[in-house]
Amino acid sequence: MTTVDLPLLPLGRGTDLNSERGVECPGDLPSASDPDLVARALAAKEALGDRVFVLGHHYQRDEVIQFADVTGDSFKLARDAAGRPDAEYIVFCGVHFMAESADILTSPDQQVILPDLAAGCSMADMARLTQVEMAWAAMTEAGVAESVVPVTYMNSSADIKAFCGRNGGVVCTSSNAEVALEWAFAQKPGAKVLFLPDQHLGRNTAILKMGLTLDDCVVWDPHRPNGGLTPEQLRDATMILWKGHCSVHGRFTAEVVDELRATIPDVQILVHPECAHQVVLKADLVGSTEFIITTIEAAPAGSSWAIGTELNLVKRLAAAHPDKRITFLDKTVCYCSTMNRIDLPHFVWAMESLVAGQVVNRIEVDPETEKWALVALERMLALPGKTHKD
Ligand code: 13P
Ligand code: SF4
Repeated sequence: MTTVDLPLLPLGRGTDLNSERGVECPGDLPSASDPDLVARALAAKEALGDRVFVLGHHYQRDEVIQFADVTGDSFKLARDAAGRPDAEYIVFCGVHFMAESADILTSPDQQVILPDLAAGCSMADMARLTQVEMAWAAMTEAGVAESVVPVTYMNSSADIKAFCGRNGGVVCTSSNAEVALEWAFAQKPGAKVLFLPDQHLGRNTAILKMGLTLDDCVVWDPHRPNGGLTPEQLRDATMILWKGHCSVHGRFTAEVVDELRATIPDVQILVHPECAHQVVLKADLVGSTEFIITTIEAAPAGSSWAIGTELNLVKRLAAAHPDKRITFLDKTVCYCSTMNRIDLPHFVWAMESLVAGQVVNRIEVDPETEKWALVALERMLALPGKTHKD
């Protein structure tokens, strides 16, 4: 049985990112009501053949992900982009930081395209380079910067990744945060980690995987003087968590977990590590989007699941597994509005432009940023052990 507890409200159309970046979509977008959009996308893809490689993150809309050559979480997609040196164009159906990472990991001859430039990430926007540099200066003044290894979640801008590369740090994703933290703590005796920008992934990994406690963690608030922390607090901490979060995963609550456990017999709670610590503590399983998918695929028929991650993915899982009861772990709509910016009209527009010889919405990281961001990304790709659940 598939529950129908998946509300269908009008989707939000973007966030402050659109106005903030002053993004306009050049040229005429096809109308969303054009009945030929699917046929046009197919024709453009066929015309481009192997010259184009389309990547689709698991949170993308159905109407778009059907055209992806590969789908995946952010770690898998970064590897997949790097694994297609022959493709002239990489069309990234995901968000801005993912397209930046693809540009960094591909050759200068390859062009990465984000069908809508307003597809940003509110979490990535919560850590700006100037803020991070101010935090680093304060840590230097407190005498702790020398012990700090910066670790940034993939969900960060290229200049934050470059900051980590320049300062002996690494990038991680939700698939490999544990091994990245192990690496960071092994870099020097008495190492501390500055974890950017998602406090929840940092806290959940530190406590559930590394055996640290809440007392070992402090939160750096970039909107308060000295991050709201004293030099003593910085010196005593093992994990300095940046005060950032995902607005989508931040909606899941421990109360709803309790309600579902009371109403659905034997329900298993499966959540993404971007969820708050209280939610993760109450969950049965925690992992990246790829892990969530493989867990549901391996689950026995008749099992019941409540999933705490983005709604496009949960709906797709529910549709693909009618023999399992799959419920969304939130009472209201919870799409990622910026992931949803990539819709069929934008995809068709980007692909048809390529067919016409025009590259639109190219994502290009400047060479100096790219050099150092690549250092941090390559450190991640070289991490030992199993770094991806596929
Ligand atoms: P993963 O793809 O790493 O699971 O991350 C989820 C996410 O929020 C991407 O923006
Ligand atoms: Fe960013 Fe959250 Fe959307 Fe992922 S789901 S792109 S972290 S806002």
